[in-house]
Amino acid sequence: MSQDLSEAVKEATREVHSQAENSEFMKNFQKGQVTREGFKLLMASLYHVYAALEEEIEHNKQNLVYAPLYFPEELHRRAALEQDMAFWYGPRWQEVIPYTQATGHYVRRLREVGRLEPELLVAHAYTRYLGDLSGGQVLKKIAQKALDLPGSGEGVAFFTFPNVVSATKFKQLYRSRMNSLEMTPEVRQRVIEEVKASFLLNIQLFEELQELLTRNTKDQSPTKAPGLHRQEGSRAQDSTPTETPGGKLPLNILSQVPLVQWVLTLSFLVATVAVGLYAM
Ligand code: HEM
Repeated sequence: MSQDLSEAVKEATREVHSQAENSEFMKNFQKGQVTREGFKLLMASLYHVYAALEEEIEHNKQNLVYAPLYFPEELHRRAALEQDMAFWYGPRWQEVIPYTQATGHYVRRLREVGRLEPELLVAHAYTRYLGDLSGGQVLKKIAQKALDLPGSGEGVAFFTFPNVVSATKFKQLYRSRMNSLEMTPEVRQRVIEEVKASFLLNIQLFEELQELLTRNTKDQSPTKAPGLHRQEGSRAQDSTPTETPGGKLPLNILSQVPLVQWVLTLSFLVATVAVGLYAM
């Protein structure tokens, strides 16, 4: 195979990268139109995603399909996201952070890959970590300005990589490690497809967050929506996240409320008429 994996992947994801950049949530973000509400939702989703990704990485760190890409000190985000969760959601963040349906889909795929197809972990790590070291650095500055955050980095620890001196050099190293992975043409093709799939999981996440934000601007605060308050992320819990209240309630219960009100009103009217008739 003549082309390096890193080049092949970059080429294959040009279109989907542009799709991610141009999703409404990201477009608004780049224009500085990011609210605390939206940022908190995004960070909570990323917390669940990285908790799952890094747990699967730990399980596979000695597997040669991933080992050359194991850079916990430089890259891993879970500890930083825990700091951000405490900053945004308070000391009891584990009990209150939202867990949305699209987050659940992403987490479920990460679990499947980690357990059943670890040779595809490279795809997910590439999409997130190299993205964080690229566009993520722009987003950090925008968020700090738009949300009036302290320059010390509180609330945006996720975007800060204290152990990466030069993002450009680190990305070069990372790409060369990707290129050193030994894989058959068949696996290589699956890796490329999985990178595209991982971009789509991110896009679906942004679309869902945007929908929740739009709905709740008309409606109510998303952090007050029933079902959004639910901690997730443990290995045991997230095997079927979409079947949990955390995954489904925000959209379902909200749409059922008017129906319940209608049924109650109608029952009340019928009862009133019946009493009236009886009295006559
Ligand atoms: C506001 C949105 C975004 C902006 C402005 C942005 C910007 C950029 C830029 C300028 C680069 C090139 C850096 C370089 O060549 O060294 C890059 C690379 C990259 N971005 Fe984004 N990006 C955005 C969103 C995303 C998202 C949502 C993802 C995936 C979740 C992502 C994943 C990546 C990856 C994996 C690379 C590395 C490409 C490579 O060198 O192989 N980006 N991004």
